[in-house]
Amino acid sequence: MDTHARAGLVKPVVAATIPKVGEVAVRRLRPTDLISEITGLLHRAYAGQMAMGLKPLAGRQDDTITHRRCNSGECYLAVVPDAGHPAGERIVGTILFHEVEPDEGPTWFKNAFVDSFSQFGVDPDLQGIGIGRLLLGTAERRAAECGAKELACSMAEPDAELMRYYLSKGYRLIEHWQWPYTNYRSAILSKTLPGP
Ligand SMILES: CC(C)(COP(=O)(O)OP(=O)(O)OC[C@H]1O[C@@H](n2cnc3c(N)ncnc32)[C@H](O)[C@@H]1OP(=O)(O)O)[C@@H](O)C(=O)NCCC(=O)NCCS
Repeated sequence: MDTHARAGLVKPVVAATIPKVGEVAVRRLRPTDLISEITGLLHRAYAGQMAMGLKPLAGRQDDTITHRRCNSGECYLAVVPDAGHPAGERIVGTILFHEVEPDEGPTWFKNAFVDSFSQFGVDPDLQGIGIGRLLLGTAERRAAECGAKELACSMAEPDAELMRYYLSKGYRLIEHWQWPYTNYRSAILSKTLPGP
């Protein structure tokens, strides 16, 4: 997936700053993590969809919304060591498992055997090296541990490239949904989790 082209980004990637996927750790959000760093990461990750004229919440939400969303479910962060960062590591990806939304959600999400993830994004400079796979694997593992049979998500239907990404990961189209805060129809996708 050529995410730089999609986002219209021309920023060169400096090879020395690209971590190997083995250096990436996935962990739960901590109270000391900077919400603004997560908001910034999400804005960068969703810039491609914003450039398409879409208005994903994660691409334009402020820190107050990021804070509310991250604390409404289990927020996971992908981090890499970074001596130049005050925390000694920087956040390069995130996924939110089991978000409880204030808005009415799609019918599929209401099934007791279905869990969901959202707010999924990876730093555009580091996409395509497996960080998304680590985060998605974490959400799928947590869903199975919580007893779900299906893991679902909502994605911008017009983003055909993203649809192909999910289809290649075993997700299928279930239904469509219109969230009140977006300007596009969402596709509700779901994956059957492996049994015990
Ligand atoms: C969707 C997203 C989170 C995936 O993260 P990622 O770190 O790029 O994902 P991965 O590197 O694990 O997987 C990329 C897949 O794309 C393909 N790919 C191959 N080369 C690639 C490349 N150069 N760049 C990107 N993807 C590539 C592969 O099929 C790979 O799958 P694999 O797991 O079989 O290897 C990321 O692209 C993103 O942040 N997108 C913008 C925000 C967004 O749309 N989020 C989802 C909202 S529902």
